[in-house]
Amino acid sequence: MTEIPEHLLKRAAAARAKAAGGAAPADDAAAEAPKADAGDAAPAAVAPAAKAKGPAPLPTLDAEPAKSVPDIAVVAAAKSRKRVPFWAAPVLALLPLWAFIYIFAIRPAPTGETDPLVIGKEVYTANCQSCHQADGSGATTGGSGQQLNDGHAVTTFKDPLAMVHWIAFGATGGARDDGTYGDVDRPGGPMNVGTLGGVMPNFDTTLTPEEIAAVTIFVREEFGGDVYDPEAEQGFTVDGFEADPEGIAKEVEDVIALGEGGDPDLGSVTRAGQ
Ligand code: HEC
Repeated sequence: MTEIPEHLLKRAAAARAKAAGGAAPADDAAAEAPKADAGDAAPAAVAPAAKAKGPAPLPTLDAEPAKSVPDIAVVAAAKSRKRVPFWAAPVLALLPLWAFIYIFAIRPAPTGETDPLVIGKEVYTANCQSCHQADGSGATTGGSGQQLNDGHAVTTFKDPLAMVHWIAFGATGGARDDGTYGDVDRPGGPMNVGTLGGVMPNFDTTLTPEEIAAVTIFVREEFGGDVYDPEAEQGFTVDGFEADPEGIAKEVEDVIALGEGGDPDLGSVTRAGQ
């Protein structure tokens, strides 16, 4: 047991009172308390006396005061705040699914899927360019195929379906017996096969009807120059293709069904764009 000297107790009480803004009389009262109960009881007596005075409560093990303390603003706000809504968990859990659907919904259609100029250019680059050159200049720039550009091919075939027939059957199945092909009334006379280094192949078995349609539209529009007139194409155009790809492909099928020969009966084919 440690005896706290009286004068120290008195000094501590005075300091507490002073810190709490207490006046001189309070100081005296605190100092008096321990004096009254001398000996062992002295330290215990200090606490109740100081507590009663109010300004400077001593720390205590008593839980009572803490219970009665009201929540400070932020704690009260946190307690009264709305909880996470019940549907938040499922919505969050399905986020990856939403993202998946979203990405597929906004993703643009594969480039040029419905554009005959894009499809046609691909077909041309892969199947025709080697003989006819990228710009359709053909033999005029050293190619083994006939010139297509500057309106040459459109002049040879006024009717796009006649060109379809030529591309489908080539020089072997698309020329007349006398070796001419294309329009007989072509300005400057009809064209003849076998005048160049190469031979025009047939594509009825290597290209789909849709691809033949697209490459025909591509050649006519890209290389038609001033001769090309969409109004004269009887619906076999970019717009016609995009509006009714199946109809255009059916036209090609019907033309192929006419078979080989220099002068196919194109009048029997129903025009999708008409
Ligand atoms: C192996 C070379 C070669 C390939 C490949 C080729 N052509 Fe030809 N093409 C020719 C030749 C040569 C002619 C001229 C006719 C002949 O002598 O057979 C010609 C003629 C043409 C004509 C007529 C042009 C005119 O005004 O007289 C068109 C249209 C044409 N080709 C389109 C195509 C298309 C479209 C492709 C690809 C799908 C293609 N050709 C692939 C060699 C080729």
